[in-house]
Amino acid sequence: MKSVIIVFHSGYGHTKKQAEAVYQGAASVTGVTAQLIAVEEITNHWEDLNAADAIIFGAPTYMGSLSAKFKHFMEDSSKLWYTQAWKNKLAAGFTNSASFNGDKANTLIELVTFAAQHAMIWVPLSLLPSNSSKSERNDLNRMGSSLGAMAQSDSDVSAEIAPPPGDLATASYLGKHVAELALRFY
Ligand SMILES: Cc1cc2nc3c(=O)[nH]c(=O)nc-3n(C[C@H](O)[C@H](O)[C@H](O)COP(=O)(O)O)c2cc1C
Repeated sequence: MKSVIIVFHSGYGHTKKQAEAVYQGAASVTGVTAQLIAVEEITNHWEDLNAADAIIFGAPTYMGSLSAKFKHFMEDSSKLWYTQAWKNKLAAGFTNSASFNGDKANTLIELVTFAAQHAMIWVPLSLLPSNSSKSERNDLNRMGSSLGAMAQSDSDVSAEIAPPPGDLATASYLGKHVAELALRFY
């Protein structure tokens, strides 16, 4: 069995829904075990991360950047950086925010850099963008991201109905894609 872990932070539940979709995509692949870990619970899960074949990181975009609680997790991981414990594991990322753009790309770039510091191998979203005149709100990759999965949650809508189904399907695609690569490469 290969192991894919999703580590995420969510302040108000929207990014948690996106993380759950990533998890479902990874868990749908035969031969892969998936695990979803909130950063608030990370203290008990460092060994799980060290044993994983792939780690997918996710956080909301707050002030054009990763949320502070996720950044706290990143800094806590520096103890593992010293030993390069995550070297050659697959890595991928996702983020959610209120605005269509909202500077989400900056959050994903921060995650790419974080993974590179750990000498991980970054997996891009690997989905063409939906950007034609026929594009619809629930299309896969409607925000045209390549580094990772993006989701957009209207600022006045609860996590019960946001992010929209297409963004959750995009997240699920990322989880499945990483899980399939974990089977192929490890
Ligand atoms: C402190 C803070 C900063 C935010 N900054 C941004 C931002 O830079 N860009 C954006 O599009 N949305 C921003 N938002 C909106 C959140 O990204 C959005 O509400 C998101 O759905 C929250 O996800 P969560 O429920 O997982 O916490 C911000 C929200 C908060 C609370």
